[in-house]
Amino acid sequence: MNHLIDITDFSVEELKDLLDSALDIIKNPEKYQEKCKHKKLATLFFEPSTRTRLSFEAAMYELGGNVIGFSDGASSSATKGESIADTAKIVSNYADIIAMRSPKEGAALVASLNSSIPVINAGDGGHCHPTQTLADLLTIYREKGTFDNLTVGLCGDLKYGRTVHSLIAALSRYKGIKLVLISPKELRIPANVLEDIIIPNKMEYIEVENLEENISNLDVLYMTRIQRERFTDMNEYERLKNSYVLDVNKMNKAPSKMIVLHPLPRVNEISVKVDSDPRALYFKQALNGKYIRMALILKLLSEKDKVTKFSFENNKLLYNKYKCNNPKCICQTEQELEQISKIVDEKNNVVRCIYCEQRTN
Ligand code: NCD
Repeated sequence: MNHLIDITDFSVEELKDLLDSALDIIKNPEKYQEKCKHKKLATLFFEPSTRTRLSFEAAMYELGGNVIGFSDGASSSATKGESIADTAKIVSNYADIIAMRSPKEGAALVASLNSSIPVINAGDGGHCHPTQTLADLLTIYREKGTFDNLTVGLCGDLKYGRTVHSLIAALSRYKGIKLVLISPKELRIPANVLEDIIIPNKMEYIEVENLEENISNLDVLYMTRIQRERFTDMNEYERLKNSYVLDVNKMNKAPSKMIVLHPLPRVNEISVKVDSDPRALYFKQALNGKYIRMALILKLLSEKDKVTKFSFENNKLLYNKYKCNNPKCICQTEQELEQISKIVDEKNNVVRCIYCEQRTN
């Protein structure tokens, strides 16, 4: 079964094909109106969403398909204690493809291991959000025509912002990317992204705190919301929530060709006055999200026989040797879930949980 759990499940060539397919959908929407006739998408959303869920549903309707699902875990049997594994098995009987969002890190991976239909990770806690990355990539591609040699500033909550983690993973496979990581010290990029992606791929990067001082060097500025729901200490959130506001003054210091992206929702980190700046592309980015999700649904449904299930062969795994202590990991709540770790760096003895990618040793 073919799934999209992590953005690197797709090769660079597959990503290119997907982007081209989205461009064709934009050009010739009528060609696609019946492509998913009699097919059903299940949207299983255990966490709030506007863009991701509605763009998935709009995407399926525009392909002539149907949608079932829930937008709130409280209305599902999860409140009765049903596991993600059982939910995935059941929904496999009712739909052709699943898009799932959960606050638990690794939930979509567990679903994919138990599903007989393709599973798409629509966000798993603060871990990953690969389909937002697809929307980001399509927006950059339409605007810049390439990913190579771009200087990309990522600003805000780089610790809990799952869209940032997936975007960096995607960009790590292109040439000459420079990352300018702009965040308060407390919200710096997590160790797994730095140590497993940025450093081994030899990506050029700097970590800084000031947006204004760095904006003039950027081709792309990716703003993010401080992720209130992921903080364990609300005092810390209160202290950090107004860390960055992109306003007209800062935009005046930015290059004329720089583009501003934001996965949205925005709280106050981009002034509404910036919206009319032609460089502000975040609303177009949300529309691109629908087109790329159409392309994604088509791809996964047409490749049902291809296997991208978590590669047990390609990873050096340790079964039940270490226990994951991340309270947000799916392994804390899922019944009888095997504790599996992967060795990511033998030399430095770095071992991570396969579900949430936090260190287990
Ligand atoms: C993002 C998310 O859910 O992670 N939103 C989205 O899907 N467009 C970003 C966010 O919530 O800040």
